[in-house]
Amino acid sequence: MITDFRSRFGFHTTPFTREFAVDQRFALGFFDENLTALSRAIENRMSAALIAPAGTGKTALLRALAHGLPEARYRVHYVKVTELSKRDLCREIAVACGAEPAGNYPTLVRRLQERFLSATAVDGVRPVLILDEAQDLRPDVLSILRTLTNFEMDSRLVLSILLAGQTPLRDILRREAHESVARRLAHFAYLRLLSREETLRYISHRCTIAGAATIPFDARALDALFEISCGNLRAIDSLAFKSLELAHDAAVSVVDSNHLAQARKLVSP
Ligand SMILES: Nc1ncnc2c1ncn2[C@@H]1O[C@H](COP(=O)(O)OP(=O)(O)O)[C@@H](O)[C@H]1O
Ligand SMILES: [Mg+2]
Repeated sequence: MITDFRSRFGFHTTPFTREFAVDQRFALGFFDENLTALSRAIENRMSAALIAPAGTGKTALLRALAHGLPEARYRVHYVKVTELSKRDLCREIAVACGAEPAGNYPTLVRRLQERFLSATAVDGVRPVLILDEAQDLRPDVLSILRTLTNFEMDSRLVLSILLAGQTPLRDILRREAHESVARRLAHFAYLRLLSREETLRYISHRCTIAGAATIPFDARALDALFEISCGNLRAIDSLAFKSLELAHDAAVSVVDSNHLAQARKLVSP
């Protein structure tokens, strides 16, 4: 009989995937501290930044943050930034806000400002704009953020912006030209790589939420998972998944360090 991948290891769902329910996230102390600090900035009607290398949990944290903001009081719009012109980024933001994405740049800005104002004034909800992968914002486009937060009526700040991006975002925000944007950010959150112990807990967590009663990696495989991934969540995911596949192909139900060595070659150039 052919045993399927999941049942070989006792999983109910596929482990180490990108998608997981917010309430099944791995809630480490430093994730939660950053989550609290960013939520607080938004509750105080401020903007903030989340800066960390690729694969360290930014997007997952943003999802948890958006999930945690009460729907009755906040309207969260999520945009994944690419190297767009000002007008095109405004169009993307308009789409995310359910506004018509047509017209030139000034028209779009005006429409967005009206949209954000009416959210506050008419609907009584606070708009929050999340810009993910913000290291890809073109330098001239960054000034949009000033424009969008710069129409305070009676000195009220209408919109909270959450800029999330990889480490180069920090250097971008430090440039003199962007001082006025950086000054609007009331909190800077940083994520780090997991320690060895945290990596083991993370692997165990991902196996458990996928339904496994035991962890299908032996001790040396777990060591290798940490050594190779250096505690980067995305690297752990892809190595763990690939090595499970290799063990499955070899018809064994425990991943060992040989599977990891093979997996390493298959998931990186
Ligand atoms: N809190 C978490 N709980 C469980 N898995 C997570 C968590 N944070 C990140 N991950 C996993 O790590 C991977 C990389 O995280 P992601 O948020 O996409 O990183 P980034 O946005 O910094 O590149 C995700 O695909 C997800 O599987
Ligand atoms: Mg991301």
